[in-house]
This record gives sequence, C-alpha cells and structure tokens, in this order.
Amino acid sequence: MTHSIVYLNGEFMPIHEAKVPVLDRGFIFGDGVYEVIPVYGKQIFRLDEHLDRLANSLDAIRIPNPYSENEWKNNLDQIVMKHDEQEQSIYIQVTRGVAPRDHAFPEEITPTVFMMSNPLQVIDVDTFNKGVSAITLNDIRWQYCNIKAITLLPNILLKQTAKDEGAQEAILVRDDEVTEGSASNIFIVIDGIIKTPPKSSRLLPGITRDLIVELATKNHIACVESNFSSTELSAADEIWLTSSNKEVLPIIELNGEVIADGKPGPVSRTMYELFQTYKAKLKHKQS
Ligand code: PDD
Repeated sequence: MTHSIVYLNGEFMPIHEAKVPVLDRGFIFGDGVYEVIPVYGKQIFRLDEHLDRLANSLDAIRIPNPYSENEWKNNLDQIVMKHDEQEQSIYIQVTRGVAPRDHAFPEEITPTVFMMSNPLQVIDVDTFNKGVSAITLNDIRWQYCNIKAITLLPNILLKQTAKDEGAQEAILVRDDEVTEGSASNIFIVIDGIIKTPPKSSRLLPGITRDLIVELATKNHIACVESNFSSTELSAADEIWLTSSNKEVLPIIELNGEVIADGKPGPVSRTMYELFQTYKAKLKHKQS
C-alpha cells in the first residue's frame, strides 16, 4: 500500500510523504487517542457513534477536538473516496502535538491529526466457522480502559503472550471479572442468555458490541449486560468476540479446553447473521 493516500494535518498525500516530527508527543509519550472505523460498500459504519467516542476520548485526555463533526465527516468521506476498495478500515489518530519533551501539557500546541485507510478483511463464513482459540490472562492495563488511547503496550504484551502460548486471542480478567479481549469485547451464552460486561472504565465501549446488544434486543433474544467470572466463562456454552475487524468471531477453545462441541454455537450464528444483514442494508443505502 505504498501509494495509499493518507491525511495529515489538513492535507492528503501519499503515505511515504506523510512525516511527523520526532518530538510529536504521540511518538515520545503515546499521548494521543485513536479510532478504527469499518467501511462496507464505501459506507462508513456507525459514523456518529465513532465520532462521539473519539470526542469522549479527546475530552478525557484534555485534547481540544480539532474539528467539527462536519469537518470530520468531510475528511473521512474524502479518504474513503480516494481508495478503490469497497470494504475499508479507517484509522484515525489524534495526538497532543509537537513540543519539547516535558510531561506536563505545553501551553500552546496544535494537535496532530492522521488518517489512513487499509483494506478490510471481512469475516467470511469459513473464518466464522473455524473460530479462534483464546487463553485468559490477568488484565494488567490501567484504570481508564474506556479511553481509546494509543498507549497500547499492555494490550500488545497480552496479545503476544497469547500467541507465544499457541492461542490466537487473550481474554482479560480483573479481580476475577472478565473485562474484554486485548482488542475486542466479549460475549458469552449461558442457558440461552447472552451476557456481556456492562460499560465501565474497565473496558472500551465497543461500537460493534453496542450494535450486537441492540440487534439482540430488537430480535427478542435474551441479552443482559452484567459481569461474569472466569469460572462462568469456562462454563459458557458459547463465547464470541466483537470488534471493528473481528465482527462476530467465535472462540472455540479456551485455555486448551474445547468449548461445547468445538463449533460456533447457534446463538453466535444468529448474531453473526443479524450482523451480516445489518451490513448488507448499510451497503445498499443510498449515500
Ligand atoms: N480495537 N476493546 C478494545 C480494547 C479494543 O481495542 C477494541 C477495538 C474493542 C472493540 O471496539 P469496536 O467494536 O468499536 O472496534 C474493544 C481496534 C479494532 C484496534 O485497536 O485495532
């Protein structure tokens, strides 16, 4: 993707021309926030919700939002149109900006805004049917996991630990409550009821998560937002992860034990199908 067009501080340019000074606080401190937004059939998925979450993340770390909602939408539309792919994954990053290294916020500083689009790997039926394996790990992250901060070192270490142990995903547990995946939210099914942890500072308020809760409710499928322990997780009939690039992805093996019969369960399948129908409607929406 060397010729891919990206956005940096008000300009569109080929990615190899996009340069950020080494004193950018994103580089020096990880002082910034980000968003990942899927695009289906060139339609941006849940744009208002993603822009709201971005505004909340910026607010939480006291970076003034550099653009109005219309400016964000206009820039994002242009990024999507500059790429041929129907399905894209947009990445937005806003850092506090460039300044001599000092932990405290500089007084006069302009945020750095970067946006790129990459091809999106959609979760096809084969990927869904295969599912993934996961292990549980101690959630070593900080106390503001609701902020989509670029400072992802704990998430990276957790994901790598899972990989080193031969699993594909890490499921995080804090004070014996399951929080989320290292880059995804988690759902379980016990006795036919879907459960996902309620939103709190312990997890990222996932946009895909919210849609799954909404679709379950609309379709009269029992779904509760409540905490569950690692023991309940191990006893679950079904487990799946959600995110902007995992959609609905079943876990079929946990800590080396096969879940149910090692195939995605019926509720996972229903939620996957409802999600695909939602996507299909979005794709055919007139823009
Ligand atoms: N991550 N929890 C964490 C810690 C995440 O990093 C993500 C997404 C999610 C799911 O949120 P959403 O449904 O809005 O994508 C939950 C993105 C995809 C990433 O870091 O690449």
